[in-house]
Amino acid sequence: MTTTTTEAATSPRRRASFRPLTIREVRPLTDNAVEVTFAIPDELTDDFNYVSGQYVALRTELEGKEVRRSYSICAEPTPGELRIAIKRDVGGLFSNWANDNLQAGHVIDVMSPTGAFISQHAMTALNDPEAMAQESIDSGLSRYVAFAAGSGITPVLAIAKALLARNPHAYLNLVYSNRAAMDVMFVEELADLKDRYPTRLAIHHLLSREQRLSPTHTGRLDADKLKSLLGNVFRPEVVDEWFLCGPFEMVQLIRDELAARDVPADRVRYELFTTGRPESPSDGNAGRPVVADPAGENWEITFNLDGLEGQVLSPKSARESILNAALRVRSDVPFACAGGVCGTCRAKVTDGEVTMDENYALEPDELERGYVLTCQSHPTTDTVSVDFDA
Ligand code: FES
Repeated sequence: MTTTTTEAATSPRRRASFRPLTIREVRPLTDNAVEVTFAIPDELTDDFNYVSGQYVALRTELEGKEVRRSYSICAEPTPGELRIAIKRDVGGLFSNWANDNLQAGHVIDVMSPTGAFISQHAMTALNDPEAMAQESIDSGLSRYVAFAAGSGITPVLAIAKALLARNPHAYLNLVYSNRAAMDVMFVEELADLKDRYPTRLAIHHLLSREQRLSPTHTGRLDADKLKSLLGNVFRPEVVDEWFLCGPFEMVQLIRDELAARDVPADRVRYELFTTGRPESPSDGNAGRPVVADPAGENWEITFNLDGLEGQVLSPKSARESILNAALRVRSDVPFACAGGVCGTCRAKVTDGEVTMDENYALEPDELERGYVLTCQSHPTTDTVSVDFDA
C-alpha cells in the first residue's frame, strides 16, 4: 500500500471533479444522521487529499433529475478513506434518500475535496513548522473558539482534532448547539477528544429544547446568550482564530457581534449550511429552455475549463448566471450548492466585467485577484471571459 494522505499536499481551492467511489461503511450517528465512509483507491489518492474542514459534493439522479449536495468531511486525513456525515433535512430529497438507502458496497459519484473553511494557523504550521513553534513559544497558548450547530459540527470536529493533535499549545473552546441531547452528533468522538485533551479542550453543549443546569447552556444561541458567552466564558481579544459553522442566522449573528468587538475579519472563518435563499438567481432558469436571442441581445460568454475553450450566447432578457449558461454547453462545469456558499464554481474573470449577487465563499484577496462565483455572476459587458482553471 503506497497511500499517503497529507494535509499539506492539497490546495484549498483546487478545481474539483467527480469520481465514482465505493462506500466502505455506513454508521448511524443519531436517529437522523449517518456517517458514510468511502474507500479511496490508491490511484485516486492525490485527487482525494484534503485539509481538515473541507467538503465533498455527492452527485446522483433522483426522480429523474441530477441532484448534487455538499457534505463536510468529518475526520482527519486518513490513508485510503474519507468520511462524511449526512443529516436528514426536513423535506430534503438527497439527505433523506441517503439516510434511507446508502449501504456498504454502493458506488456514488463524489467530487474531490475542496473548500476554504480551514485553519490558517494549521496551514502555517504545516508550511513552516519552525516558525509556528517559535510563535507558540513567544505567545504562549494558541486560543481557538468554534461555534457549531447541528451538523455544523462535522467540519469543526475535523478541525478540532487537527488543531489539538498538531499543536501542543492549542486550546479550543467549542460551543455546540442542538435542539435536544438526542440530536447531538459524534457524541462518542467528542467525549473521546475531551478525554484526550482534558485541559486544552472545553466543550459547551447548548440545548434549545431541554433544560440544562446552567442557564447559559439552555435555549437558543441568541444575541443575549452570545454576549454572555463572550463575556463570561472566553475573551474575544485573546482568541487567535474563530470557526463558525451552522445556519445563516447563527453565523451572521456571531460575525456581527465579533465585528462590533473589533475582532479582525481575517481571524473569523465560517461556513454556512445554506444562504437561506432557495430562490437563488442561479436556479432562476431551472426547467426553462434558454435559447439565444435572434435579435442579437445576448451576452457572449467564453470560458476555459480543463484547457478547452467553450462559448455560449446568453440572452440578456434571461438574466441567467454564467454557470447556468456554461452548463448548457458543457455538463462538467463544476458546481455544488448553486447558492454562493461553497465556492466550487469559482473562476477568474479574464476579460469583460460581471456583477455578483451573493458571496459567502470567496475571501477578499480572491475578489481582488478577479475571482468570482459563477453561480452568482452575471455579465455587465457584452463579452465576458472566465477561466475555471485559473
Ligand atoms: S456552486 Fe457553490 S458557490 Fe457557486
